[in-house]
Amino acid sequence: MRRFLVAGNWKMNTTRATGEDLAAALAANAPAAEDGVEVLVCPPYPYLVPIADKTSGSAVSLGAQDVYFEAGGAFTGEVAVDMLKDVGCSHVIIGHSERRHVMGETDETINKKVKAAIAGGLTVVLCVGELLSDREAGNTEAILDGQMAGGLADISEAEAASIVIAYEPVWAIGTGVTASPEQAESAHEHLRKWVASRYTDAFSEQIQILYGGSVKPDNAEVLMGQPNVDGALVGGASLKADLFIPIIDAARKLSA
Ligand code: PGA
Repeated sequence: MRRFLVAGNWKMNTTRATGEDLAAALAANAPAAEDGVEVLVCPPYPYLVPIADKTSGSAVSLGAQDVYFEAGGAFTGEVAVDMLKDVGCSHVIIGHSERRHVMGETDETINKKVKAAIAGGLTVVLCVGELLSDREAGNTEAILDGQMAGGLADISEAEAASIVIAYEPVWAIGTGVTASPEQAESAHEHLRKWVASRYTDAFSEQIQILYGGSVKPDNAEVLMGQPNVDGALVGGASLKADLFIPIIDAARKLSA
């Protein structure tokens, strides 16, 4: 059975102090290994080191929100895979819709980042998702196919074993509008079939596919209860322990 992953994407939020308090609360409430639930937090770069102090020795994993594909050198403002490893990251989010639509990242850039992260030993949370206009035009699956093909270009099944997919419909991110459980399941089922046709049926049954977009304590259980939904990538509700812990608990309950 696939394990659940509940991931918090803090985006450009928290201070050092509020981030440390949040991480300490999560570390104290992290599920035991036998709960079948992994928990991940992705703070802003400057807080990775102090947050690592709070999560180390706990079951909470640490991730970054982005990474650059070059190993090092004259790339002002960028951060390399080895730097993330050096400060204790096991995961990195790549291709988040805000990187795609605010920063203009292309599938080609995302693919380079995915390859560099996997080669460097990080687990990648690769985000895909359609705009409202894509959905209204009936293009959701075509957009997802394009983002999957672009992001995973020239990536073998062995390499893809270090990838978690996050389906995040752009119209549901930070809007308070959540995809219905049926909409989420339909997209997840489609993504799993895409993985089966690109790789193998067996691999498609293993890969974790998270849902993201206005996940909250009151909708987490029904969303994660869908057969092809293996967890959540949570933005707003990951910033408060009393909202994020109930989402972790919903995954715990489903995996019991
Ligand atoms: P949200 O963000 O939970 O605030 O909608 C999700 C995300 O962007 O990962």
